[in-house]
Amino acid sequence: MCGIVAYIGKQEAFPILTKGLQRLEYRGYDSAGIALRNGQGEFEMFKKKGKVADLLAHVNGKKLTANMGIGHTRWATHGPPNDVNAHPHFSGNNRLVMVHNGIIENYEALKVALEEAGHTFQSDTDTEVLVHLIEELQKRENLPLEEAVRIALSKVVGAYAIVIMDREDPDKLVGARKGSPLLVGIGDGEFFFASDGTPIVEHTRRVVYLDDEQIAVVTRDGNLQIKTIENEQLSPFVEQLDLQIESIEKDGYDYFMLKEIHEQPHTVADAMRGRINAKEGWIRLGGVEEYTNRLLQANRYIMVACGTSWHAAMLGEYLFEELARIPVEVEYASEFRYRNPILTEKDVVLGLSQSGETADTLAALQLAKERGALLYGIVNVVGSSIARLTNAGSYIHAGPEIGVASTKAFTGQVVLLTLMAMSIGYKKGTISKSYFHRLLSALEEIPAKMESLLSQCEEQVRYIAAEMKNATNALYLGRGYNFPIALEGALKLKEISYIHAEGYPAAEMKHGPIALIDKNMPVIVIATNKSAYEKIVSNIQEVKAREGRIIAVVTEGDKTISPLADYTIEIPETEEVLTPLLSVIPLQLLSYHIAVMRNCNVDQPRNLAKSVTVE
Ligand code: F6R
Repeated sequence: MCGIVAYIGKQEAFPILTKGLQRLEYRGYDSAGIALRNGQGEFEMFKKKGKVADLLAHVNGKKLTANMGIGHTRWATHGPPNDVNAHPHFSGNNRLVMVHNGIIENYEALKVALEEAGHTFQSDTDTEVLVHLIEELQKRENLPLEEAVRIALSKVVGAYAIVIMDREDPDKLVGARKGSPLLVGIGDGEFFFASDGTPIVEHTRRVVYLDDEQIAVVTRDGNLQIKTIENEQLSPFVEQLDLQIESIEKDGYDYFMLKEIHEQPHTVADAMRGRINAKEGWIRLGGVEEYTNRLLQANRYIMVACGTSWHAAMLGEYLFEELARIPVEVEYASEFRYRNPILTEKDVVLGLSQSGETADTLAALQLAKERGALLYGIVNVVGSSIARLTNAGSYIHAGPEIGVASTKAFTGQVVLLTLMAMSIGYKKGTISKSYFHRLLSALEEIPAKMESLLSQCEEQVRYIAAEMKNATNALYLGRGYNFPIALEGALKLKEISYIHAEGYPAAEMKHGPIALIDKNMPVIVIATNKSAYEKIVSNIQEVKAREGRIIAVVTEGDKTISPLADYTIEIPETEEVLTPLLSVIPLQLLSYHIAVMRNCNVDQPRNLAKSVTVE
């Protein structure tokens, strides 16, 4: 949550910062702000509640000339999203100005101590407390900025990525991180700080990803120094940023979410590329090969995740239990981490995360690591905190996912879980050679099937969306592999269109939710099952008997369900274990079109942010 970008060099900082903030807006859009240090040695600060567009309107075309500055886009934690709480924040003497992503947990105690020392605060934020603390240390001991930052951070409990500027020092920026991402971009006679690579990719591809409790000092004369909070000097490890500019542009689509839904045939193919070969009959996942023995001998697998990634994990449970005969527990990371869970060295803990930065998932994995479990990450963002914490893992290679509602990362995660379960099952001998080969061929056909589904169903989905757009509630039902898809369909609808929706196992409906069904209730039934097909048909009959409006997702050629349903969406035939990869697509499109018809901001739904780096 919250995006940071900062610049020092010879170029005009204002356009770099504002364009960078627009790219980072997916991380939070409650407010946006920038501070520049101009040639006269003055700070100029602009900040505004709302989006970067509101900030630009506030600047109102004013000519701002400066070649160093910091910028921030906020997802509010402490204090309501208003102009005053927007970042950057000044220190008490206005000498320092800082942006921050994260939460300072002991800010109240620090604030009381600072108030006793005469500090007064303008905002409700924890950030302002931290910048006052740095000022206090700098002033009291006459310390250079980086040393004041280092000592201040050693007193802080919580998470932070910060960048700070000193009015008295025109040649230096200082950044630091713990628990929230921050990288340093190294340009030609210039440096950048950013929460991820998107704001800097057209300027440089040379980056240093900071680790927790590291501080970076960059100076105008081209010097980059990294040290730890314990004051240990480190040599910077420079990496190449792997990011294509086209992947962070909308490319003619109205919203990133729609672009990302349509990218899935390619992203799913990318998730499998070089990892499977149906003709030769193999799957190769680096992480699985490296830890084969531990993965095969594990007592059980525990999958930890949040939100949509948690739905992928649920599918993981079905896949691993069926294909690899390994007991699986699926855990909300936020519950798991505070429950004193029973973990042993024989457990494997899988962390699933698009961003690789979700605070609860990261903490759950840290706990599992401390207790000796093997950690395996299924992550999209390369070099992210979860990717670095885990012992082994597989990237899903979906490219940047910018729409706040996760789509292509979900199908990428499901592909990786399928490959893992198949590979481990095959090594263990829990799936037959012929079934393994059949699944491999079916997997290779998925991208083309996704492509044809996307081109065939969208018009019909748009029609159904128009019929459904004024609903106030919706019920999503599924059995087996389609139950997690029902949960995912409901989440997609509520988060971007603000229609209340619930996902339920179809057979559970009669234990309560059936009371909700009347002619105004759209009931979306994902009924592509081969096993328990008659059961799901009976569930549809139960809805119909109560006059619910039925929207059924079925396998092409299905003749039984269409006469019962008000609308039927057909998906291509595939192996049952792979159907979620196809059945989720009409549901993603349905929520997208309903949200557009309700004039919702699809890519930036209210109160949400893409990367939840706070608890
Ligand atoms: C929903 C959505 C969220 C995320 C959740 C976990 O569309 O995007 O529910 O899935 O915040 O995020 P990651 O996968 O980055 O850990």
